[in-house]
Formats: sequence, structure tokens, C-alpha cells
Amino acid sequence: MKKIKTLGEFIIDNQQEISYATGELTSLLSSIKLAAKIVHREINKAGLLDLSSINHNQNIHGEIQNNLDIFANETFKDTLKARNQVCGIVSEEEDNVVTFDKQLNVESKYVVLMDPLDGSSNIDVNVSVGSIFSIFKRKTPVGRPVEIEDFLQPGTKQVAAGYIIYGSSTMLVYTTGNGVHGFTYDPSLGVFALSHENIKIPTKGKIYSINEGNYTKFPQGIKSYIKYCQEIDKQTSRPFTSRYIGSLVADFHRNLLKGGIFLYPSTATYPNGKLRLLYECNPIAFIAEQAGGLAISNNKNILEIAPEEIHQRVPFFVGSKDMISHLKKYIFD
Ligand code: AHG
Ligand code: MN
Ligand code: MN
Ligand code: MN
Repeated sequence: MKKIKTLGEFIIDNQQEISYATGELTSLLSSIKLAAKIVHREINKAGLLDLSSINHNQNIHGEIQNNLDIFANETFKDTLKARNQVCGIVSEEEDNVVTFDKQLNVESKYVVLMDPLDGSSNIDVNVSVGSIFSIFKRKTPVGRPVEIEDFLQPGTKQVAAGYIIYGSSTMLVYTTGNGVHGFTYDPSLGVFALSHENIKIPTKGKIYSINEGNYTKFPQGIKSYIKYCQEIDKQTSRPFTSRYIGSLVADFHRNLLKGGIFLYPSTATYPNGKLRLLYECNPIAFIAEQAGGLAISNNKNILEIAPEEIHQRVPFFVGSKDMISHLKKYIFD
């Protein structure tokens, strides 16, 4: 039987890494692991517990929240708060920064930005969804974290980032800046077991992921790139294959393992793009770059964007290095 190495054992084996040195990040990651197990359990009962039904509340984005959005948000908040490592969070499902008042002390030196349930429109049709997290060290020394200094940091400053994909199996994929590692959840043991060590995204790919329903309003460069993907050319393995699930985590995870490109440009509905910089684009971009891929927003690297607002949206292009480099010819104004 294959030896199981749990996420906890993997971190202990890599204790020499500076990011784990004091054990606080380890404790933070284990609170995320716990939340993932709880959300996994509820997602697998969603149909029975009408968690997928809508809650009729709207979040700040004007999206109708479904019960699982709210359940996942509360679960991550509770587990993060309980571990005394985090002084505050930003969440897609919270209008403003949430501070953990008990932890306004020097020990709680991290802030977490998260999308507690990504792809929630897919829940009631039993399609893969995810949770996404991004971790920074706070910049202000102690006390109540400050939005601008502590949360509006460029993605290059991330200490760790990752996602959980609740798919045919549940996986946790994360990086602390030393490669990307994937752990598959074994519910019978209640552990995340190392299954994909040091993931590298193929430099070339044959998959392009974009919601072509928005074609008429895409910038001309994107329209030309889509035509390029569809042309017949054996030399460059075209036409590429179109694959689009509508859950960022699921679309990205497939392209990470197989090679490919994901595009969410500006559209009529979302002139600045739909995806949120702080808790969707930055963490996915950190993973992509650590796996040898690229992530850009028009003519900037995602991780270098100086955030202006916690729910800021940006056009987002992420995937195989050669595909992103080729895309740049079409979108750099
Ligand atoms: P969320 O469910 O967290 O609001 O995110 C949904 C996002 C992302 O998961 C996905 O890539 C994108 O919405 C799909 O948007 P369209 O349905 O407009 O293609
Ligand atoms: Mn949403
Ligand atoms: Mn999302
Ligand atoms: Mn979400």
C-alpha cells in the first residue's frame, strides 16, 4: 500500500522552510484544512440539506448568495478566528474587512483574503466548486489591522496561497513560495494525503477556457485570439480544445495539470473583468507562477498590481507560459 504523507507531515518535513519557522503559518494552514473538511462534508450533502438553495441575500457584488456561500464563509471565519494567528480577513461574502478583535495582539500576524465558495452557481447542478485563500503578513505591527496597509498589498507579498477543489475528489493545492503541492482528501481517514508533489504546468497546452457567450463585447484582441485558437494548424496542434466549467478553481486546476489558458477579459457586464484581484486572481496567479506558468491582466503581471479596493475586479489571463506569452501579442495595447 502506497505510504501516505499527510499535509501536516509534509509541513513538518519542510520545517526548514523559513515560512514555517515559527509554526504559526502551520497552525493557520491547519485551520484552513479543518474548514475544508467541514465544507467538503456539507457540499457532499448539499442536495439533501437545501444548502444549495438561495438565501435571497445579496452580497456587495449584487450576487444572490446561496446558503453554501454563507455556510462556507462562516466556517472559514470560525476556524481562522479560533487559531489566534489571523487578525482579520477579507472575504467575497463580506462587504468590509472583518477584524478578529480577540487577536489584535502581536501574535496574530497574518491576514487572510478568501473566496469561501468559488463557482457557487454550479452547486445546484452538482458541478465542481472551490474555496480560494491568500495569506499575507500584516504590515502594521499590532492592533486593529488597517485596510490599506494590511489588506491592499500587491500579490508579490503573499506568504502563502491555495485553493480547495470540491470535485470528483476533494483536493487542497497550495504554495508557500517553494513550489506547488496537491493533497487529496481521504474522508475515511479524515486526512489530506500528498498526491501531487511539486506540480508544474506544461509550458504549452491545447486547452482554452473562456465564456464565449460574451464574444460580441470582447476587446478585438481577444476576438482575434479566439479565432487563432480555432484555426486548423497541425504544427501548433490547433484547433485547441475549448473547455469551460464556470468555476474558476475547476477550470484553472484542469489547465494546471494538463496545460492550457484561462481568460476572463472585460465584457459588457463586467467592463473591468469579473474576477476579483485580491481573493481570486492573486492566489491563483501565485500558484500559476510557482508552477512555471504566467498570470497577467492586460499589460501587467497580476502579482504586481497595486490593489486600490478590496473587491476590485481585473481582466484575468492565466495558464501555460507559452500560451500567455503568445496571448500578449493580442492584448497589449
Ligand atoms: P464566485 O462563485 O466565487 O462568485 O465566482 C464565480 C466566478 C468564477 O468561479 C468563474 O470563473 C466565473 O465566475 C464564471 O463567470 P461567468 O459565469 O460569467 O462565465
Ligand atoms: Mn460569488
Ligand atoms: Mn469566485
Ligand atoms: Mn465565491
